[in-house]
Amino acid sequence: MKDSQDTRAPGDATRAITKGRTSAEHYGAVNTPVYHASTILHPDVDSFERRHDPNTDRRKVIYGLLGTPTTFDLEEVVADLEGGHDAVLVPSGLAAISVALLSFLHPGDHLLVADTVYPPTRSFCDQYLAGMDVTVDYYDPLVGAGIESLIQPETRVIFLESPGSFTFEVQDIPAITAVARKHGIITVLDNTWSTPLFFKSFSHGVDVSVHAATKYLSGHSDVLMGAIICAEHTWDQVKRTHRHLGQCVGPDDVYVTLRSVRNLSTRLNAHEKQGLALAKWLSQRDEVATVLHPGLADHAGHAIWKRDFLGASGLFSIVLHPKSREAVLAMVNGMTLFRIGASWGGFESLMIPVYPEQYRSATAWDASGATLRIHAGLEDFDDLIADLDAGFNRLNQATRGD
Ligand SMILES: Cc1ncc(COP(=O)(O)O)c(C=O)c1O
Repeated sequence: MKDSQDTRAPGDATRAITKGRTSAEHYGAVNTPVYHASTILHPDVDSFERRHDPNTDRRKVIYGLLGTPTTFDLEEVVADLEGGHDAVLVPSGLAAISVALLSFLHPGDHLLVADTVYPPTRSFCDQYLAGMDVTVDYYDPLVGAGIESLIQPETRVIFLESPGSFTFEVQDIPAITAVARKHGIITVLDNTWSTPLFFKSFSHGVDVSVHAATKYLSGHSDVLMGAIICAEHTWDQVKRTHRHLGQCVGPDDVYVTLRSVRNLSTRLNAHEKQGLALAKWLSQRDEVATVLHPGLADHAGHAIWKRDFLGASGLFSIVLHPKSREAVLAMVNGMTLFRIGASWGGFESLMIPVYPEQYRSATAWDASGATLRIHAGLEDFDDLIADLDAGFNRLNQATRGD
C-alpha cells in the first residue's frame, strides 16, 4: 500500500521511466514516436514570423534542426537524471566535448585538461583549439585542490574526465570545482563512464557534463550520439553554440536511445556487478600485475570513488606482468566472447590492448607489462571466466614457447 506520508523523491530507475514521457501528446503511445521532420508548417505568417521569439516554449517545434518531441524527451530525461538544468544532443561523444569547449573558449584563453582524457579530446585541444590561439596545459588528474597553482589570468575552462581513459585515475572533482568556482572558471566533465546515474555532476560543482551517449545511454553498439548537460548558468551559452554549429541528431537514433535509457539503471547495475566480479577474479591471477578498477578496495582512487560515485560501470583495465607482444596477441586474438573493437557500453564484452604512455605529457605511465582495457558485457559470468582462463593459458603457452 502506498504510504501517504511518503515524500521521497523518486529514484533514478523510476525517473528514467517517467521523465521525458509525453504519451498524452501521442495518442497514449508509451514511447514517443519518431518524428522525421525538417520543415514544420505554421498556420499563418504571424506565427511563422514569431517562431524564434525567445519567450517561446522550450518544447515548441519550429524547425527539425532545433528539435522534435522525440529529441526534447531524451534531453529532458538525461538532464533530469544527472540533476542538470537542461541538455542538448549532438552526433557523437566527441562532438559533445568539442561543442562544450567551443562554447566557452576564445582566442587568447587558457585551458587546463586532465592528462588522462580520451585521446581524441587531446587531439581536439592540441590541433584545433591550439590553432585558434587557445593555450592548452595538461595537469595531473590527481592534482585535487593543487589545480589552483596552475591557474593563469587567462584560464577559462578546466576539463575533467573521471575515471581517466585507459587507466582509471579518480579525480577529486569537488576539490577542483571549488577552486574553479572561486576563480570564475567553467568546469567541463566527461562523465561518460558513470552515465548520469553513477555520478551526479551538478551536486559536485561541475558546470557542464558531457556524455558519449554512444556508450551506455544507447547501450547496443549501434548508435553514435553525444549529450551536453548544463547547469542553469551555462545553458544559454551552450545552447547558442550548439545552434551556431548546426548540431542535430537523426530522429531514429534519438528514438532508440530514448528506448534504451528506460532500462539504463537495470543494465548499468548488471554491468557493474559483472565488471566487479571479473575484476576480483582477474586480481587473483598470477599473470596480472594490477587491476585498474576504482571499485576495488586496493585501487588508489577507491576512497574518492566511494565518497563521490554511486556505482561503477563495466569498463576497466588490467596490467599484465611483462610478456612478449606475441604472447599478449595470442591471448587477445584468440578470445571468443571478449571481442576486439573500439568503443564500449554495449551489451557485449570487449578486450583491447591500450598504450597509455602515448597519451601522457604531464604524468608518466611506466607500467612494464601490457595494458588491456576490458568491457564487461552481459554474457553469463561463467562463460566469460572460461574465455579469460583459456586466454591466460594461451598467454602462458606462448610465453613458454618464446
Ligand atoms: C570517455 C569517452 N568520451 C568520449 C568518447 C567519444 O564518444 P564517440 O565515440 O561517440 O565520439 C569516448 C569514446 O570512446 C570515450 O571513451
